[in-house]
Amino acid sequence: MLRFRKVRADRGGVHFEGNIEDGYRACLELRTPMRVLLEMARFEAEDEASLYDGVRAVEWEEHASPKTELAVRASARSSNLTHTQYIAQKTKDAIVDRLRERFGQRPDVDLADPDILVSVHLAKNLATIYLDLAGSPLFMRGYRTEHHGAPLKETLAASMLYLVGWPRDRTDFVDPMCGSGTIAIEAALLADARAPGSLTQHPFGFERWASYSDERRAAYQRLRQLAEERYQQAKQSPRPSIVGFDIDSGAVEVARANAKRAGVHIRFDRRDVRDLVLYEPATIVTNPPYGERMTMSPEDWRKAVKALMAVPDARIGLLLGHPDMLDAIRARPEKVITLMNGDIECGFAMFDRRGR
Ligand SMILES: C[S@@+](CC[C@H](N)C(=O)[O-])C[C@H]1O[C@@H](n2cnc3c(N)ncnc32)[C@H](O)[C@@H]1O
Repeated sequence: MLRFRKVRADRGGVHFEGNIEDGYRACLELRTPMRVLLEMARFEAEDEASLYDGVRAVEWEEHASPKTELAVRASARSSNLTHTQYIAQKTKDAIVDRLRERFGQRPDVDLADPDILVSVHLAKNLATIYLDLAGSPLFMRGYRTEHHGAPLKETLAASMLYLVGWPRDRTDFVDPMCGSGTIAIEAALLADARAPGSLTQHPFGFERWASYSDERRAAYQRLRQLAEERYQQAKQSPRPSIVGFDIDSGAVEVARANAKRAGVHIRFDRRDVRDLVLYEPATIVTNPPYGERMTMSPEDWRKAVKALMAVPDARIGLLLGHPDMLDAIRARPEKVITLMNGDIECGFAMFDRRGR
């Protein structure tokens, strides 16, 4: 069980308190966030001067060296300063000026591959300045180098799995329209207690900071070791079978290759969802084709849902890209939660068919 202190959620994200190692642990272990950010400062920034002064007051030299290359991302809402590029520029100027003053040399900017990625968020004139611990977005686990059609982010797949309670019931798992296999692969990583960050090939952001001392490196290695031990232990007990189907043989090939890269054992076969017949209880999570990206006729969709609802004692989660998809079927979900798939607002409809 991952434990963090003082966990609190708001529209900006989920916040917790802890030491730097907790930040490393979050990057290594958490499955659903896109980023893990370390808060450096929070202050009123009603204008350009107060933003500059607030950023310059931060002890950037703790994490940066004269050779550090940096980049700044900015967002703003309901604030006097609205131009995000300008906010990023001012923030960068303040950091560069501070570091030049400390080191007698100005650091470079590298927008594509910075050593240090700074985020500035302005909300109602309150600026919060963060260092991005992970560096790259956490959905980039590294296993999905190939994709088929319209894949969804690994972090979204993991969120859906948590929402349906996988793998609590230890049932089999099926994604009957698996595309590149993302949902099934995330289901396997979760059931195998595999830390998603242990798959990532490139270093996390914090590994490139000047503050990443030998001691901190050793602490991070210990965390990785613990994660590995947990995985090896989970592998001792048999886990439920995980299967992915897709009507398209190209998708099946891609899903197999992705699973191999992720180091998980999953069976992927070509099959039409309308022909799906399962005799054992199962957890089913899938992302059917929809909208402009890929479509299914209403009749085919109804047949697909009928096949899914016939699975005994199933827990089912369907990520639906259009409200019509729910209107078209007879089955009523227990719950529908809005989830963003990229910039498409989707309904995640959950059905609990146990005991029916
Ligand atoms: C939106 S994509 C799924 C994307 C997937 N979640 C991923 O991350 O790559 C929908 C998939 O449904 C498949 N599909 C469409 N009709 C199908 C059918 N009748 N039976 C099985 N799969 C079908 C498509 O080939 C496509 O790969």
